[in-house]
Amino acid sequence: MPTMKRVITLANNADSLLISNISGRVATIKFEFSQLRAPIIQAPMAGGLNTPLLASAVCNAGGVGSFGFAYTSAEKISQDLLDTKVLTAGPVNANFFIFQPVEMPSKQVIADAVTALSGFSLDDDYALTIPAPPFFPDITQQLEAIWALPPAILTFHFGIPSPAIIQAAHSRNISVGITATNVEEALAIVKSGADFIVAQGVEAGGHRGTFNAVGEDSELPTEQLVRDLVKATPLPVVAAGGIMSGQDINRVLDLGAVAAQMGTGFLCCDEAGTPPSYRAMLLSDEARSAQFTRGFSGRRAQGISNRFMAFMDNKPTLPFPIQNSLTGPIRKIAARSGNVEFQSLWAGRSYAKTRAMPVKRLMQVLREEMNDDR
Ligand SMILES: Cc1cc2nc3c(=O)[nH]c(=O)nc-3n(C[C@H](O)[C@H](O)[C@H](O)COP(=O)(O)O)c2cc1C
Repeated sequence: MPTMKRVITLANNADSLLISNISGRVATIKFEFSQLRAPIIQAPMAGGLNTPLLASAVCNAGGVGSFGFAYTSAEKISQDLLDTKVLTAGPVNANFFIFQPVEMPSKQVIADAVTALSGFSLDDDYALTIPAPPFFPDITQQLEAIWALPPAILTFHFGIPSPAIIQAAHSRNISVGITATNVEEALAIVKSGADFIVAQGVEAGGHRGTFNAVGEDSELPTEQLVRDLVKATPLPVVAAGGIMSGQDINRVLDLGAVAAQMGTGFLCCDEAGTPPSYRAMLLSDEARSAQFTRGFSGRRAQGISNRFMAFMDNKPTLPFPIQNSLTGPIRKIAARSGNVEFQSLWAGRSYAKTRAMPVKRLMQVLREEMNDDR
């Protein structure tokens, strides 16, 4: 493990810090988590769940509001950022996936994946279309919208962006965070010059942020991962996965995290874009659990178990994100008719603790719980 020496000195710019390591790389940290009134980041959640109302309400309550822009066009990114700016001057985080290049699968692989999806019926007719390249958006184009309206923070999931992207962010005073699910990924993040690490534990809802989509997953729980990363790296660590209460936040702060990133905990806030049937499942007393599946997107992601997940167990899928496009019509029809058995109900393992209330109230409750716990 390379040893890192951490040197912190005040830069000319009064509110920024310089951190240098022994490799001589210097990264300017513009974002100070300790300045937040609430050490809470509303997680980026791709797929229309993040809205300007949600992000701005979290910012206005003292936290960080995020957008999962993985599949979003540059035009929509600009619109969301502009709409948010009208509502808050607080720190916004824009998040992107680092998609790995993917080739068109062979005819046989495609046929197997399509056959796997043909054994059930939905209320409405739909057609499965074999996706054509490009299989994911061009991040360079998406980031044009970011450079034009720079948010405080830019985060990445599934890997490390190019040095040019990190440099472009730093030159605009944007802090860069990257998801890690183990120490090895975290050490690569340190080397990249990024400013902080999002430690994603196995309890987390949504896609696993592992760099390798098909490799072994260490499945470290959030608290163990935070402990490991705080010890192994010099960068600030944000904890993500299963954090639902003020007590949960205090526990990760006590382990050395600078903030808690909560996704599932915000899904039933009034301001979230979560469809009614999805909300109902999050709040239902029905004893289901959250589990991982590759069935929806081709990459492991965690959500409330349903018939589609059971049906796709051990069935072939196309590589991520081609499978995501292939299952798009199924998910769309299911969402439209409120059929929860064929929607991706991404949620963390603690989803039964989700609270339905406006963001302002949730942030107040979380802060009260943090204070009462001390
Ligand atoms: C519905 C949903 C969508 C998500 N989408 C993204 C995403 O686009 N980018 C990302 O970095 N993380 C995404 N995540 C993961 C979150 O950043 C975070 O790791 C997770 O929500 C933390 O666990 P929790 O859901 O138990 O709070 C998503 C999580 C959920 C629940």
